[in-house]
Amino acid sequence: MKSLSLLFLFLLLSLGATAQRTAILGALDQEIAILLDSLKEKKEVQHGGLTFYTGNLKGQAVVIGKSGVGKVNAAYSTAILLNHFTPKQLVFTGVAGGLHPESLPGDVVIGTKLIQTDFGQIDSVGFKISPFRKLLGGRYEDLYIHSDPELVQQAEVAAKQVVFLSISKRAPRVFSGVIATADVFVSNQATAEKLYTDYEALATEMEGAAVAHLCRTLGIPFIVLRSCSDNANQVARVSFNQFVRPAAINSAGIVLQLLSAMN
Ligand code: ADE
Repeated sequence: MKSLSLLFLFLLLSLGATAQRTAILGALDQEIAILLDSLKEKKEVQHGGLTFYTGNLKGQAVVIGKSGVGKVNAAYSTAILLNHFTPKQLVFTGVAGGLHPESLPGDVVIGTKLIQTDFGQIDSVGFKISPFRKLLGGRYEDLYIHSDPELVQQAEVAAKQVVFLSISKRAPRVFSGVIATADVFVSNQATAEKLYTDYEALATEMEGAAVAHLCRTLGIPFIVLRSCSDNANQVARVSFNQFVRPAAINSAGIVLQLLSAMN
């Protein structure tokens, strides 16, 4: 009887410990490298064919994973992570194409709202975005899924404390606003401008809204943080290759500061 209650207590404690973790995902190795370098008491675990790293980052219990590129990979890895670790919150970090007319590589975008810009229908007139999403609980009558307001506020405060790497002709700027997600790497000026005018999107990337969709479905507070590696224009690929590392470091910088401030 005594050993049974001890086992029960142990299970409760380990569940409690897991529930306290902050989950961190990035699509590419470069996007999580700096976080893994700073991770203390690092342990590697495999779930669903994916590798996750648990440990302590800036005094917070975390689990870090690589989602892979695109919405399908992002949704899969988010589902596996949430199912196995039941974290208290999730932060997605990485790079994006900047869409604001004044945006330059190195700038940071705190995602207040996420939108899937390739979810809709195509008829003789062209593509029309769907005005609703289908979550497990039913229709979600909004184009945008909102990040957790508290995490947004904490990220905005954290961003003020970070010394960002400067990779353009001026110091990096911090924007807060919409992040657009689609299964495409945008390297076209007209498309970039349309994403900005149609959806007020400040950055375009390939995972955020899928992560938001899963977190919203399962009731996990989340935020998406990005730093611009390019301007989603005709030279985006070259710019991405040149700046993916420093931009990833800028985004990860906010994650580290956000965690520090949670102590
Ligand atoms: N990630 C970084 N740059 C991007 C771009 N231009 N389009 C989509 N995803 C990106």
